[in-house]
Amino acid sequence: MPATGSAPLVYITGASSGIGQALALRCYQAGWSLALVARRTQVIAQWAAQMQLEPGRYAIYEADVAQPDSACAAAQACLERQGVPDLVIANAGISWGVDTSRREDLDAMRQVLDTNVMGVAASFQAFIAPMVARGSGRLVGIASVAGIRGLPGHAAYCASKAAVIAYCESLRGELRDSGVQVITLLPGYVDTPLTQRNPYPMPFLLSPQQFADKAWKAMTQNKCYAIIPWQMSIAGRVMNILPGRIWDRLLVGRGRKPRHEPPAK
Ligand SMILES: NC(=O)c1ccc[n+]([C@@H]2O[C@H](COP(=O)([O-])OP(=O)(O)OC[C@H]3O[C@@H](n4cnc5c(N)ncnc54)[C@H](OP(=O)(O)O)[C@@H]3O)[C@@H](O)[C@H]2O)c1
Repeated sequence: MPATGSAPLVYITGASSGIGQALALRCYQAGWSLALVARRTQVIAQWAAQMQLEPGRYAIYEADVAQPDSACAAAQACLERQGVPDLVIANAGISWGVDTSRREDLDAMRQVLDTNVMGVAASFQAFIAPMVARGSGRLVGIASVAGIRGLPGHAAYCASKAAVIAYCESLRGELRDSGVQVITLLPGYVDTPLTQRNPYPMPFLLSPQQFADKAWKAMTQNKCYAIIPWQMSIAGRVMNILPGRIWDRLLVGRGRKPRHEPPAK
């Protein structure tokens, strides 16, 4: 595949599905070059062919972001092949229900934390020093409204997204005055494979394309933290201040995310 030209470059993890794919298309339509990352690189390649992306404007990298060496190797390969990105979107994530009274669900919880939390840090790592040296760049962590308060049955996911919010806030402080921005995005509900089995109402559900348009605005308007859509932003502010007793009562009877069934041995 030919090297990318002088268009701005975005590096997106989780680019084989849902939000990552929609963000990739949004950036491409704005004239950007793409570095697309996931485990299922064949799915990305098929999608790129279907979208008739110009071969010179994208490259595909295989990585399992839950494995820091794998995530760092993909980032390094991008630096060597396409240069220092202008924008890095750490989007790859999984959402598994867990019941931590069951031993096997501790393994599921570890996988969620490795993917959603360590995956964000490992996806940023190789880019931080070159961006700081250049004095510009944007690092975007995809968190979730589910990171604001705990939800029954969703302990692993809520804990992981709360950690993403705190991690990005810490990094933002560390990179203050370096020219590198750290942006935390908290999607509400987006219609992707990740939410399609949710057994509870999903207010203000967006299509991935609608989410990508709103995220694009937030990322290009110098926001450091945005809940998308705005209706969820109001809900998020209320969630933040509700006393625990009231929050607990509001959740009585709410459906739970199905447990992740470990593969049969
Ligand atoms: N959909 C929503 O309502 C919603 C709401 C809030 C936050 N979010 C967050 O938005 C992000 C994207 O979610 P989505 O809804 O677009 O889900 P999705 O359609 O299931 O896509 C998830 C993406 O993450 C990648 N991924 C998962 N584990 C990975 C790993 N270990 N290494 C590399 N890539 C991995 C998948 O690629 P491969 O399987 O090919 O590796 C896939 O491209 C997630 O962080 C999610 O938590 C989503």
